[in-house]
Amino acid sequence: MSHTQVLGTGAYRPDNIVTNADMEKLVDTSDEWIQSRTGIKTRPMTIDENTSDLAYNAALNAMADANITAADLDLIIVATVTPDYQFPGVSQLLQKRLGCRPIPAFDINAACSGFIYALDIADKMLKSGTYKTALIIGAETLTKFADYDDRNTCVLFGDGAGAFVMGRSTENKIKSIITYANGDDQGYLKMDGYPLKVDFKTPKQARPFLEMNGQEVFKFATTVLPRIVKELLEDAKHTIDDIDIIIAHQANKRIIDKAAKTLKVDAHMMFSNIEHTGNTSAASVPLAIDEAIKTGRLKKGDRFITAAFGAGFTWGGAVIEL
Ligand code: UT7
Repeated sequence: MSHTQVLGTGAYRPDNIVTNADMEKLVDTSDEWIQSRTGIKTRPMTIDENTSDLAYNAALNAMADANITAADLDLIIVATVTPDYQFPGVSQLLQKRLGCRPIPAFDINAACSGFIYALDIADKMLKSGTYKTALIIGAETLTKFADYDDRNTCVLFGDGAGAFVMGRSTENKIKSIITYANGDDQGYLKMDGYPLKVDFKTPKQARPFLEMNGQEVFKFATTVLPRIVKELLEDAKHTIDDIDIIIAHQANKRIIDKAAKTLKVDAHMMFSNIEHTGNTSAASVPLAIDEAIKTGRLKKGDRFITAAFGAGFTWGGAVIEL
């Protein structure tokens, strides 16, 4: 049976760095509140680069890391909730911009868990034998949908993109992948879509903003994150001692710390870069993994757990050996 592996990773963040002091000028907040409640100090916020620009640059970095060219790609999957357009998708814009021949390219929406879903789909499409090399990307410009009158949400988000090049392998490097959804019918975390027409009159479109009931989402996140880790360990027939590092979705440092306590693992095992990224939704996990690799926290041969949770509600994770 053929397996899959990560051949290379890449990341891209906009240059514009917004500090908590900058946020204090926009809403009634403080550096002390943001840092103590979330762990965030700064976040990259795009000014003139859209999601496909971030995704393109992350893709180039991952392809250079994997030592491949656009001609080697057989498949592109982009996880995003903030595409440049309703359609065409970011993935289709990338297929052209990267100079690929016609190949399957599609976007998926599973909010902050999107990259794990992309990993799951790519893993299975590669294992089917039809495709050899896949580019998967988590890319977001969530800050364009933040409501800068709402201090509960606008201080939380950042922009960026992270990418993997994946290929087939004779060794079992991706030990387990899980993905789940359980509908959020209360609308605890959502952004409105385009309204329906009434009597065929074009509705006046109010600009949609991201809305969140932080406390409810916090409860969900702190419950599900340890659950993901436990299920992955069981599925991969591993114990926590087989794992070098846990790289969770960077939504709040307190969520990560609480999971460490529940799982009874050393806080040092939980990677965190939220301090300088903020919450970048589907980009969060691949950005964090790339940073862990490029800063030497993750090395060839290391085994890590990645886990994500978000709107939907969705959640998922993977056990990966580099
Ligand atoms: O990526 C998808 C998944 N997302 C998440 O996992 C996010 C989960 N939720 C959270 O991380 C946290 O709930 C937040 C960081 C969003 C909020 O932290 P919290 O400790 O749950 O705060 P809270 O909503 O309970 O609000 C506490 C207080 C309130 O004031 P009062 O009512 O106690 O007077 C808020 O109005 O903090 C106030 N507050 C702020 N104060 C200063 C809320 N936002 C701010 C702010 N600056 N930016």
